[in-house]
Amino acid sequence: MTQSKQRSPVRKAVLPAAGLGTRFLPATKVQPKEMLPVVDKPLIQYVVEECVASGIENVVIVTGRGKNAIEDHFDVSPELEAFLDRKGRSDQAELVRQISNLVRFSYTRQKEPLGLGHAVLEARDMVNNEPFAVLLGDVITTSANPATRQLIDVYEETGEGAIAVSPVPREQTSLYGIVSTDPLVERNGRKLYWIRDLVEKPSPEEAPSTLAIVGRYVLPPEIFDCLERTPPGRGGEIQLTDGLRRLAKERGLWACVCEGKYYDAGDKLGFLQATVELALENAEFGNAFRAWLRELKL
Ligand code: UTP
Repeated sequence: MTQSKQRSPVRKAVLPAAGLGTRFLPATKVQPKEMLPVVDKPLIQYVVEECVASGIENVVIVTGRGKNAIEDHFDVSPELEAFLDRKGRSDQAELVRQISNLVRFSYTRQKEPLGLGHAVLEARDMVNNEPFAVLLGDVITTSANPATRQLIDVYEETGEGAIAVSPVPREQTSLYGIVSTDPLVERNGRKLYWIRDLVEKPSPEEAPSTLAIVGRYVLPPEIFDCLERTPPGRGGEIQLTDGLRRLAKERGLWACVCEGKYYDAGDKLGFLQATVELALENAEFGNAFRAWLRELKL
């Protein structure tokens, strides 16, 4: 089913970051949620670093009203760099410089937050007719082998799109998109499932499995035609999950249980969990933080 497909390299990634972040109010009233800092970096910088570590060359960020801070963060900052150089703080100057040199950035704007599928569609002209990765701008993953790299490997091996899934407790299925699949296929050490269907936020009773879609995707360009034909769905928004249903039916799609943990840091609890985990791993103060946590009488 997968041998004859034409495979182009995956060079581009789309990072939707135009949502309103209502789950994180009031912090996100003015501040884009993708700019909330986890330890010492904004969320979206972790996502861009995952792209770089996965071999992506072009990052397209979908922004919207009130999201200019994202563009500014990845731009050069000549005054700050010169100030730090003058003060002899060359390490910090270098740290700031590296951010704008991470990768090639482009931006497109979603005028209104009409849904994740709509946000991906806004990047169509920039992606062109190439396979590409999608990384949600508020989800961070921890793995030596980044989830996006694992999905690119599946695409390169099979010629089909692949989305990252992770098992969740059955009582939580209504928080996620859930996949319905054929039985597990082990391929080059990876756990893959051929997708039969996808369901957005099913109740625990209705969920066809407990494999949740976690915010990392590698897709063929055909997804754009699928999204063009997708009417507004749940919440009046054009849902990426609905576009993926068409893609799975018309062309096929893998679900891959990628190594690593996923944090939905656009959610307050997920954000706190990501913060604690990454703070514990921090080379500079992780041990001190661990010792302090132990002292808290929990
Ligand atoms: P979310 O559903 O987490 O974003 O979408 P949201 O709508 O901002 O969240 P809440 O529910 O109001 O808190 C995942 C990613 O997709 C982007 C978001 O910015 C986020 O990074 N997104 C979502 C868009 O770019 N456009 C949209 O219309 C919706």
